[in-house]
Amino acid sequence: MKLYSQQLDTYCAAVEHALPSYLPAPKDGEKTVCDAMAYACEAGGKRLRPVLLCAFAALAGGDVAAAMPYACAIEMIHSYSLVHDDMPCMDNSPLRRGKPSVHAKFGEDMALLCGDALLNRAFETVLSADTAVAADRRLRASFVLARAAGIRGMIGGQTIDLENEGKAIELPLLEELHRKKTGALITAACEMGAILGGGDESLVAAAREYGKSVGLCFQLVDDILDVTATAEELGKPVGGDEQNEKNTYVSLLGLSETRRLAAAQTDNAIAALDGIDGADDLKALATVLLSRTL
Ligand code: IPE
Ligand code: IPE
Ligand code: MG
Ligand code: MG
Ligand code: MG
Repeated sequence: MKLYSQQLDTYCAAVEHALPSYLPAPKDGEKTVCDAMAYACEAGGKRLRPVLLCAFAALAGGDVAAAMPYACAIEMIHSYSLVHDDMPCMDNSPLRRGKPSVHAKFGEDMALLCGDALLNRAFETVLSADTAVAADRRLRASFVLARAAGIRGMIGGQTIDLENEGKAIELPLLEELHRKKTGALITAACEMGAILGGGDESLVAAAREYGKSVGLCFQLVDDILDVTATAEELGKPVGGDEQNEKNTYVSLLGLSETRRLAAAQTDNAIAALDGIDGADDLKALATVLLSRTL
């Protein structure tokens, strides 16, 4: 299935092209972990977060090339989160992006270090970037990224996820879990793009609202696909949520209510961009993400 418009595809291709250039060249003594970093970031991912970042930078009237180090940094952080998420101590999943997970190929020790190294490399990349974006905007975007990746964002969500395996939780905590583990980085991508592109406060707020809705919808659909899709389509195993006794929207509310809530988030995302010129691709993307099969 096709996720992106022609314009968004050009951002995706630019990210695929730029990402390897920001990764470390393998050196003697570091080769295994450098190879693991490259493997973790290789093609096969949808590149949704960097594409959103680029699209909001463009919507704000900015230069997409100037935002590229940030786009690649958020993809490094997302990729690291997947490496750790798949490890035996977390979701214990052997397949990712259609290939053996990093720990299955390189060992658990290297997977741990690879994730840590990608996180640090992301911040090295944004802090050393030679880009035309004004310093105050760079600082603000870096802060948004750091917060979203951390305890008040992705890590916080992963903590709630793991600590509640096998326990019944209620909807408010489940929503917080989803908004943090997945929504936070997606929201940050949108917000960072608007900031780096030079958007005014109302555009930054609209980007954040869109990101929050698309981000929650994205994890609802991930929960749905874990019970309705095939491993071939997803490039990762299915049925893992039930096996790991995860709290998901599907386990708490069932498939049809989860679909209804996902559609409502899509409507919110589109409404957040109401009246903004040039947002058609982003609105269409919100709709496609609701019915995605990968
Ligand atoms: C998978 O993210 C993990 C979640 C946050 C649901 P993606 O579905 O964006 O994974 P890739 O990057 O396309 O592999
Ligand atoms: C992952 O959620 C969220 C992350 C922060 C990586 P899942 O555990 O549901 O993601 P998948 O299904 O393994 O991709
Ligand atoms: Mg998980
Ligand atoms: Mg997982
Ligand atoms: Mg999942």
